[in-house]
Amino acid sequence: MREPPLLQQTDRTFVLHQGRKYSYFSGCDYYRLSSHPDVLRALKGAVQKFGLTVSASRLTTGSHQLYEQLEDRLANFFRASTATVFSSGYVANLAMAQALAGDFDCALIDERSHASLADAASWLQCPVVRFRHRHAEDAARIARRRGKSSKLILLTDGLFSHDGSIAPLREYLDILPADAFILLDDAHAAGVLGQSGMGTLEHAGVSRSRIIQTVTLGKAFGVYGGAVLCGASLRQRILSKSHLFVGNTPMPLPLVAAALQALNTYQQDRSLRARLLANTHHVKDRLRELGVPVLDTPSPIVSVAPPDRRGIEALSKRLRAARIHPPFIKYPGGPAGGHFRFALSSEHTRAQLDNLIGALHGHFRRG
Ligand SMILES: Cc1ncc(COP(=O)(O)O)c(C=O)c1O
Repeated sequence: MREPPLLQQTDRTFVLHQGRKYSYFSGCDYYRLSSHPDVLRALKGAVQKFGLTVSASRLTTGSHQLYEQLEDRLANFFRASTATVFSSGYVANLAMAQALAGDFDCALIDERSHASLADAASWLQCPVVRFRHRHAEDAARIARRRGKSSKLILLTDGLFSHDGSIAPLREYLDILPADAFILLDDAHAAGVLGQSGMGTLEHAGVSRSRIIQTVTLGKAFGVYGGAVLCGASLRQRILSKSHLFVGNTPMPLPLVAAALQALNTYQQDRSLRARLLANTHHVKDRLRELGVPVLDTPSPIVSVAPPDRRGIEALSKRLRAARIHPPFIKYPGGPAGGHFRFALSSEHTRAQLDNLIGALHGHFRRG
């Protein structure tokens, strides 16, 4: 396995690689809140006030009023009964699985789910069956085979980061038995999908009564950490059953303060979302007009998977020549041979976007 390349972020949309400056269409800091002056100010103030870490778990002596503030703020933002914060989105999925362990007879998981969900499924203490990617009928077939009395949970990403496709939540709710649950990893959809950025539930217009939503604070909100959004009784289960809640040091307080500010900035500055949507439309609409295949979803991700090594090298070369860092990744859930994943942000300029459109068009025109 090769070591990953060392990139140096120079400003909000460029990186330095081996001394050369490239446009950067990677990372999922969709609004570049990680470098927003107000977020950084909140972080610095909290470092002075609180230091770096509470060095204890929430259940021992590590709890602090700021955690409660962030949880109230997140519950309010996502219109959920409760939010429980964790040190990362990955941990949020695992912690939820610890709380639910033993409750289900079978877990159905989208075959392209994120690794953290696959790990979480293996902690549920029940058989785990993969269903075809975003295929409600395949999930229904497995559910039927398990029989009417089987207690089921379905695990899926909301917005799949390998191509920007979106889970058909409404269809899943329709085909699943009435007592089944969905564990929804909304890492990429939180702050991106839905009228107010609440994620895939809002996008699909479904209620959260049978859905447990997990989010990361490390993508659209530009900070670090994660959270589970669920009803009050499930939160009680997390507190009493999740070893991660009991034994893991929570988010550093300066990051909690930064996340609170990031949520404020996100909600106060409506131009952020407007710019992300405009940039997404601009790139996807133009690429489609030019005959470049891109998925028709509101997600700011454009994925290109060349069929072979020659195609990968050709596109890398073309992107480098256009001074765009080639965002080639091999990631669980994505195409086996790897793909170029372009993540658009609200802060890319029109010139950067047009340069990307030109490079991709050139690649596809040449075949
Ligand atoms: C779909 C999905 N779920 C969970 C995570 C984990 O989130 P975090 O980086 O906060 O641990 C990621 C991060 O890449 C992700 O893409």
